Amino acid sequence: MKKKAKKKTAKRALRGRDYLSVDDFSTAEIKSLLALTAEIKAHPRRYRRSLEGKMMALIFEKPSLRTRTSFTVGIKQLGGDSILLTPADINLGKRESVYDVAKNLERMVDGIMIRTFGHDICTSLAQHASIPVINGLTDLEHPCQAMADIFTVLEHKKSLKRLKLSYIGDGNNVAHSLVLIAAKLGTTMFVATPEGYKPQAAIMERALGIASETGAHIVWTADPVEAAREADMVYTDTWASMGQEAEAAARRAVFAPYQVNKALISHAREDVLFMHCLPAHRGEEVTDEVIDSLNSVVFQEAENRLHAQKAIMLELLRE
Ligand code: CP
Ligand code: NVA
Repeated sequence: MKKKAKKKTAKRALRGRDYLSVDDFSTAEIKSLLALTAEIKAHPRRYRRSLEGKMMALIFEKPSLRTRTSFTVGIKQLGGDSILLTPADINLGKRESVYDVAKNLERMVDGIMIRTFGHDICTSLAQHASIPVINGLTDLEHPCQAMADIFTVLEHKKSLKRLKLSYIGDGNNVAHSLVLIAAKLGTTMFVATPEGYKPQAAIMERALGIASETGAHIVWTADPVEAAREADMVYTDTWASMGQEAEAAARRAVFAPYQVNKALISHAREDVLFMHCLPAHRGEEVTDEVIDSLNSVVFQEAENRLHAQKAIMLELLRE
């Protein structure tokens, strides 16, 4: 099998690469993407022909509002275009193998974004396709979300130094990517989950390993108040992710003490940012009074998916 041409130059270090996990990029690469995100957000017209003629395939095996819209609009705003591929179109792995899909798409498009279940589907697609593959959410990670989230924090707090970022809820894909990006960027991140719903051990080990090099402080706790106390950011996500719908009722009981409500967030700093990747289940992981409060930046966070992913597509796809 031919190896992907993943040429590295100082200026085009990300060209041709994949973004399947936050861990695919170094601290310096993440920082440069965050800087490019700011530049693109401030001056979108400067980039309107940057990916002229480039085509993205957007594969969705799960529903989406933000990811679909932001990738579709994002590539258009860079001068390119996209084609949407749903299970009704390709039925990945059933109608056709992941390998065959990769081998077809690499001849027709310049990049692939995939939202799927098993992370191995995403890595297998990337392994077989000679074009960049971007993870638009798997059961393991949501790396584009984490990039937009950290960018949003930086817009408000300017620097990550001396911040306490906290994630409270299920130790899921969103938590995994957040903990990895916090480790890469050397900040403090508390993750509060019920004992049986911790982030995966391999992710935590990797985050702690990265943290030992960057000086980050990564803490797991079962106590939501410990995470919320003096926090600069409180983040939560659904208690039952896509694919876990059958567990939703059981999870509601386990996660009830982790609801981000007025009482819990009162332990945080007054200028705490409330964040959520969305979709939110109001009255479950978060109450209306928190998500609709002045501290909530959830829609800014959603908008920043567009800017962050334009930066990612630009760096991965440009000549
Ligand atoms: N946050 C996020 O990925 O939203 P969608 O599921 O709507 O794409
Ligand atoms: N953890 C959620 C995130 C949705 C954007 C899920 O996987 O359904």
